[in-house]
Amino acid sequence: MKQNILLTGFMGAGKSSTARALADLTGLFAVDTDDLIESLLHCSIKTLFSNQGEVAFRAQEQRLANWIHSSLDHTIISTGGGFHQVSNLMDLGQVCFLDASFDVICRHLGVGSNSSQTATRPLFQNPESAKKRYEERLPLYRQKAHHLIPVPAEQNSRDTARYIRDLLLSRKLLPNP
Ligand code: S3P
Repeated sequence: MKQNILLTGFMGAGKSSTARALADLTGLFAVDTDDLIESLLHCSIKTLFSNQGEVAFRAQEQRLANWIHSSLDHTIISTGGGFHQVSNLMDLGQVCFLDASFDVICRHLGVGSNSSQTATRPLFQNPESAKKRYEERLPLYRQKAHHLIPVPAEQNSRDTARYIRDLLLSRKLLPNP
């Protein structure tokens, strides 16, 4: 079994910031699937969606998942909100689902307060359709995870990272760098 730690969950759950905090706590490297796809294709996720559509983006995510499987270990990987759909997710490492409520997500993204956080996210253009997508995905995120990580409203990324580190340590699953 690969000793990566993958953070999954909906847009705005805090996957990237938690991955960075977890990297600080553990000394492991953290990478982000959206960043890797953007650097691979020399193009932003937003442009990729508008030029080629969601199906092409999902194909790139699967290609990246295959590369992670063959080439990456002992690494923290924050994922895009739809990465749980790749076929080999649970073989890539310990999958930690950041279980934030839709209200917490909206707060993180500053929804309703003119935030730029949603502007770069093609699938979070309005809160109603995002909420529907969130509700459809929730059972899948839970099903495709080894660990469920609560993300209460008052908790910051560092607290979430500490929770994950302690949980993995208690389950003897934290990789030795
Ligand atoms: C997506 C989430 C985004 C990005 C893309 C699609 C999704 O990542 O991968 O816009 O399907 O939920 P974040 O979760 O980092 O915003």
